[in-house]
Amino acid sequence: MQAVILVGGLGTRLRPLTINSPKPMLSLLNRPFIEYIVTLLKEHDIDDIILSTGYLPDTFNRLVDDFARLGAKLTCVTEEIPLGTCGAVKNIEHLIDDTFVVFNGDILTNLNLSFLIDYHRHKQALATLALTSVDDPTSYGLVPLNSNGHIKEFLEKPNWDEVTTDLINAGTYILEPEVLQYAPAGENFSFERGLFPIMLEKGLPLYGFPSGAYWLDIGSPEKYLRAHYDILDGKMQAIVEGEEIKPRIWVGAGLEVADSANLFAPILIGKNCKISDNVSITGPTSIGDNCTIGEGVRIDGSVIMEDCHLGGSSVIRNSVLGRGIKIGRKVHIEENAVLGDNMKVGDDNWLKKGIRIWPETEVLPGTIRF
Ligand code: GTP
Repeated sequence: MQAVILVGGLGTRLRPLTINSPKPMLSLLNRPFIEYIVTLLKEHDIDDIILSTGYLPDTFNRLVDDFARLGAKLTCVTEEIPLGTCGAVKNIEHLIDDTFVVFNGDILTNLNLSFLIDYHRHKQALATLALTSVDDPTSYGLVPLNSNGHIKEFLEKPNWDEVTTDLINAGTYILEPEVLQYAPAGENFSFERGLFPIMLEKGLPLYGFPSGAYWLDIGSPEKYLRAHYDILDGKMQAIVEGEEIKPRIWVGAGLEVADSANLFAPILIGKNCKISDNVSITGPTSIGDNCTIGEGVRIDGSVIMEDCHLGGSSVIRNSVLGRGIKIGRKVHIEENAVLGDNMKVGDDNWLKKGIRIWPETEVLPGTIRF
């Protein structure tokens, strides 16, 4: 069976992490995020995968071999201009020959795709949307169903008195190729505001499939951190690469850890890392390959990507550090800070909660104080 994964978006809410990398290529526990989607597709015998790229398309090329290793065939098609979610699929219509799956490239889920496909066939649907429940329905587009699973309407960010369901579109669809006849070619067109409302208006068989499976879109820094936490905590089942040296502490080859360092699970530490004396790392925390963590550093609930160097006595709490970052001594990085690739922070800085700093920049020593 074929699947189209939509990976062409700019990922603006995840900037500065997405300045150098499209959202689906950001690492999640030291593997490209998109690998989790491909692994799920493969588990359900879907192995003919088309990536609809647009933003930084060349970054996806290296996946061809990785996907082959996972047993999947990969075809990349790049848009000249962003065509929106449905426009992107219309653009590759000539490559589709039967019922197919569409997956937003930023969804972490263990959705049972085989059930979804069976349901779609059983209902003789032209389109079936996976739906997931949320706690705050007023922040989303809701998808109420009638008793036979047919979609009644699409309610965009309703007030509480209009809320009749907590089900939202989970960004995963089973489609028949003929629905694409309702999408204009070469124009920006979305599933959510374009194709699905048109199908509803025409009375075409458009179904929703409520699922209680784990579901998260990694679109914001908070959710990107949450994805790491949920896998490390075991709330979302996924393989964590590395040797499990203690319960829920995984490490890569070549790790050097000082005897006086304290590691509190769950933690993943990548290959060739060096953890110095009196370091304290509290999970859920993920550290990429080739990182050095200086003496007395405290890291709590954070994601540190590959090739980072942290100077002594620094503190990092609930934050995300991009690749190749150099942090000086006695630097405090407060909650929800997001630092772009290859930036430098000099000694004695206190980066406040929620700060975002762009790649390749430098904060000179002692510039930002508490
Ligand atoms: P934000 O800018 O933060 O909203 O992120 P985004 O650009 O990824 O947009 P959004 O989260 O709405 O997109 C959902 C999925 O569709 C993501 O995997 C995007 O990569 C993808 N996507 C969004 N727009 C397009 C598009 O115009 N073309 C293609 N090929 N994919 C798209």
